[in-house]
Amino acid sequence: MDCYKRLLASNQRWVAERMGAQPDYFARLNENQDPEYVWIGCSDSRVPAETVTGCQPGELFVHRNVANQVVHTDLNMLTVIFYAVQALRVRHIIVCGHYGCGGVKAAMSRQDFGLINRWLQNIKDCAERHQDELSALPDEEARSRRLIELNVVEQVDHLAKTSVIQRAWATEGRPWLHGWVYDMATGRLKELVLRTSTDLPHRVHRFEP
Ligand code: CO
Repeated sequence: MDCYKRLLASNQRWVAERMGAQPDYFARLNENQDPEYVWIGCSDSRVPAETVTGCQPGELFVHRNVANQVVHTDLNMLTVIFYAVQALRVRHIIVCGHYGCGGVKAAMSRQDFGLINRWLQNIKDCAERHQDELSALPDEEARSRRLIELNVVEQVDHLAKTSVIQRAWATEGRPWLHGWVYDMATGRLKELVLRTSTDLPHRVHRFEP
């Protein structure tokens, strides 16, 4: 049970290291934040945003949930995006999925997970939309990997359907929207999609300027 103490001890060492390298390190970070990137990733413990991108404190504005979803009724996600785009004026938003995602695998199963079904429904809908492509793949592993990619692309497109993004695109041509996937087996990130201000969604999703 005492294992948690390792984290507190590690924090002490980390503070000492940072202060040793740069005495005003925390004082400067404490003044303000000016991140260029939003990271929307999965809650999975094996995909730590800063670690896999080599980013330092102050560089990434992070939102994580199960299976890196962008759900339009999720007030938490919308608040993150609104604040990051309007106030922090970020240049890039990265949606990052990962192969082996437990959330996507759960959505592919027919198991009843109770309340969690409602969250997984979004991924099931994505699977249904791409049923032809997925069912043509040779096995469950290939279908899982492809659905993980399709899910990322769909979440990027969900971002483009928000008025917050469309307004920033019209006035400032930012942020760029990126869809990436992380391979836990190799540690590598792969780019799947990039949407910029010329990639407006279907007309029915466009707001008046
Ligand atoms: Co996951």
